[in-house]
Amino acid sequence: LALVEGRRDLAGLVVVVSAGGTREPLDPVRFLGNRSSGLQGVALARAAAERGAEVRLVAAHVDDGVLRDAASPRIRLTRAGTAAELGDAVRAASVGADVVVMAAAVADYRPVDVADAKLTKESVPGPRLTLELVQTEDILARLVADRTDGAQTIVGFAAETAPTRAELLERGRRKRERKGVDLLVVNEVGWSLGFESGDNAVVVIGRRGEPIAEASGSKRAVADAVWDAVLAARA
Ligand code: CTP
Ligand code: CA
Repeated sequence: LALVEGRRDLAGLVVVVSAGGTREPLDPVRFLGNRSSGLQGVALARAAAERGAEVRLVAAHVDDGVLRDAASPRIRLTRAGTAAELGDAVRAASVGADVVVMAAAVADYRPVDVADAKLTKESVPGPRLTLELVQTEDILARLVADRTDGAQTIVGFAAETAPTRAELLERGRRKRERKGVDLLVVNEVGWSLGFESGDNAVVVIGRRGEPIAEASGSKRAVADAVWDAVLAARA
């Protein structure tokens, strides 16, 4: 008989999950954003809470309804807008945490100048507008570089498009090494034939650069597989 409560194998762990897409303001009414829904990150937070963890969810842009569905006494929610705000919030949440999972889609670049007033066709001369962008900080790489608790597990996500599975795994291997994370969860979308749009499919790259787990199906199923891989990596 299945237990209603399910597994409690994350009990005693404090986990940080970032979710959703950051937004970099251009002027008071516009931003540069991305299409991340935050659903995978929220599924990770819910799965961890249901498996007994104390969860600190740092949400960039995620629909309010999605966050409402995730409400739980075991999930403490913090909101962040820009990559810089997300970095500050994740660093604060990571103090004393056992696991940090960066599922958020962080802007790689932000506008150098943010206009105080709305850009208008009168204020911008001519038909072209050139935006100067500068790289944001790499939150994940800094988490790894500043890690003081050697037992803390740090997990990155990467959506890669690659022509073959071998190439996807190779890119995942290189990115895990470059980031220095314990685990890198690579989105298989882009090479997997018959991929169904509602679902997700991932391969988890471990410390030796090898795929240590694969999962496909609902975002909840993928979330559970990621937590299984985290537990295995910490064992
Ligand atoms: N990430 C981060 N800070 C950034 C950019 C990315 O913490 N400024 C994190 C993401 O949350 C994710 C991981 O790094 O967990 C990998 O993101 P990805 O965009 O694949 O990596 P990048 O280093 O930005 O490389 P790319 O040029 O391929 O986008
Ligand atoms: Ca990026």
